[in-house]
Amino acid sequence: MVNRFESLAAPGIRKLAPYVPGKPPEQLERELGIKDSIKLASNENPLGPGPRARAALAASLAGVGMYPDGSGHVLRARLAARHGVGLDQVTLGNGSNDVLVLLAETFLTPEVDAVYSQYAFAVYPIAVQATSARASVAPAHPADHRMPLGHDPAALLAAIGPRTRLLFLANPNNPTGTWLDAGELDALLRAIPPEVVVVLDEAYHEYSVGMSVPDGTQWLARHPNLVVTRTFSKAYGLAGLRAGYALSHPDLADLLNRVRQPFNVSVPALLAAAAALEDREHLEATIALNRQGLARLREGLSALGLKVPLSAANFVLCDLGRAAAAVNDALLRQGVIVRPLANYGLMNHLRITTGTAAQNERVLAAMAAALANGA
Ligand SMILES: Cc1ncc(COP(=O)(O)O)c(C=O)c1O
Repeated sequence: MVNRFESLAAPGIRKLAPYVPGKPPEQLERELGIKDSIKLASNENPLGPGPRARAALAASLAGVGMYPDGSGHVLRARLAARHGVGLDQVTLGNGSNDVLVLLAETFLTPEVDAVYSQYAFAVYPIAVQATSARASVAPAHPADHRMPLGHDPAALLAAIGPRTRLLFLANPNNPTGTWLDAGELDALLRAIPPEVVVVLDEAYHEYSVGMSVPDGTQWLARHPNLVVTRTFSKAYGLAGLRAGYALSHPDLADLLNRVRQPFNVSVPALLAAAAALEDREHLEATIALNRQGLARLREGLSALGLKVPLSAANFVLCDLGRAAAAVNDALLRQGVIVRPLANYGLMNHLRITTGTAAQNERVLAAMAAALANGA
């Protein structure tokens, strides 16, 4: 269908394909007339928010008649203290997605380039294309590499040219679950020219602690061109609220703040995120559950003959060695929603978020049945 306004749209928007989110369980249940479906498709925390965030959320209702504190002072102060940076280095976002888009809006024009890796998080191409900037996509590691389909630092460096303004890098990466270790990242940051802003997206950082995945914030002082983004959507269990943040040099934060919507983080999100940050116990329970889930999914799927590389996040990438669409349909018919990756050009892969122990068993049983029935 021809869109009658297309010729009026900004050039970058004309060819833009929207982000494909995980299918909501309600939609699947409506479509198939089934109940009790489970969704392991969007890398959410199966435990949801912890008790402190829940209490803060309930209490926040009293404040929703008023606009939020546009500066998000309380949450920013807690984040600054947590990360050992100044208040003027913290930028809040409506999810970290918001911060990624702010970065693109701030630094990209049709005259410049942004670099990211093949199989990098799908929001980068959208954020870049919306500004009409050119994307320079670095080839990923091959499937038989130690980090299958992961970011290749040499290829990223080679993709940087004189017009490059931004480089997006997720560590660990979604949808591959792969990561760069401290030595690789350190060498990469040293080699990137200082006039290229490096966006190090650490949405899954909390899950990766203790797994040879570095904490990028340690390099903020040495590299003024580095921005580290984090989120409350994953390990903190607040995906539905939308809260994320960037840590950067104050001058860079100052630029982001010029384009940021004045009230981009809601009253409930500000309060719940600040409370979640203090709930060490819930975070630890989340991380422990995820470790068990990663091991169980990897073992169970491997036992079915599928390839599942190590993941430092809260999902596994599963290489089915055949077209994933039919297997995905068979899983959906059993009420199990995972993520097909055709939009990444990965036609044989599914991404599966770790769930509760019961959900993990359900996805494994559904996969076994799908494969046994010839999907
Ligand atoms: C690598 C990565 N970065 C950023 C995000 C954005 O998350 P949010 O906007 O909920 O913070 C996601 C979400 O899936 C992600 O996988």
